[in-house]
Amino acid sequence: MAEIGTDITLAANLLHKGEVIGVPTETVYGLAANALNPKAVVKIFEIKKRPFFDPLIVHIPNTDVLPNYVKDVPPLLKMVMDMFSPGPITYLLPKKDLIPDIVSSGLENVAIRIPSHPLMSKLLESIPFPLAAPSANPFGYISPTTASHVQKQLGNDIPYIIDGGNSSIGIESTIISEANEKIFIHRLGGLNIEDLEKITDKIELAIVSSSNPEAPGQLDSHYAPRKPLFLKNNIDTSELLNTMGYLTFGKISTLDNHLDLSPNKNLSDAAIHLFDYLRILDGMEQIDSIVAELLPEIGLGRAINDRLRRACSSL
Ligand code: TXA
Ligand code: MG
Repeated sequence: MAEIGTDITLAANLLHKGEVIGVPTETVYGLAANALNPKAVVKIFEIKKRPFFDPLIVHIPNTDVLPNYVKDVPPLLKMVMDMFSPGPITYLLPKKDLIPDIVSSGLENVAIRIPSHPLMSKLLESIPFPLAAPSANPFGYISPTTASHVQKQLGNDIPYIIDGGNSSIGIESTIISEANEKIFIHRLGGLNIEDLEKITDKIELAIVSSSNPEAPGQLDSHYAPRKPLFLKNNIDTSELLNTMGYLTFGKISTLDNHLDLSPNKNLSDAAIHLFDYLRILDGMEQIDSIVAELLPEIGLGRAINDRLRRACSSL
């Protein structure tokens, strides 16, 4: 079993040796390895059982080191970076040869993120290489937002997990690129469209669905519990059954099989609870399926709905 702790020196030593470890970020926990060491990166794919055509995000401590890894940062992305990084945002940028092809799955662009979690920042500052890190869950399953989530699923496969507490955002980073003076959103996430609109109104969704290998992160059946998940626009809490689990937004009941993402309808709280509550419902023995209620399509509600839709899309 992986050791869980806050020893950054030990974590850095393991990474130096080419090991894979669990790391906290403000979005979700990651499964990290030296991004410049292809042998270490291969281990990430093996542990996650992730197909090699699905590229990894490269985490760096600050913008100073960016020129080592990417050829250039286009102007709108530079503005987003100045305003919102470190934070829950990932940039697709033209990669330099130093980044191994296995990291970007052979694509010209590499995904780069500067996380804001203090322990992750400290770790990144203490090592001379960037960290490739996907979310620390088996491929297709719900992302982890605590060290114990990582321990339960991947603890046998890694030596160490840095405990950074609960992820403060709870949902993965927003992924963007720039072309033709527009920002393209490839994945909805922790940074809202409304925030990007402070920079430009030229924003387009480029969220390709299903089995398109050009956009592998958008594969169906992502973020999914093992139990079947159904979606509803509105759940009536006076009609709940004992055999199903319920996930709602702003609704109270006394049933054990009903969890509410945020009784006072706060979208940030809902994002923090989303993956944890899906895991709890997935683990409840008395229920055989889960019904989730869609949230308002604003702010983090969009990203949460995106995850819920993907979690049920294979049905
Ligand atoms: O918040 C996050 O982004 C977390 C934390 C750990 O940083 N990471 C994360 O990684 O969610 P992962 O691997 O679970 O999701 C990364 C997504 C995948 O859908 C992948 O296809 C996409 O980013 N991606 C990575 N590199 C890409 C590239 N070069 N071009 C297009 N998509 C890319
Ligand atoms: Mg993931």
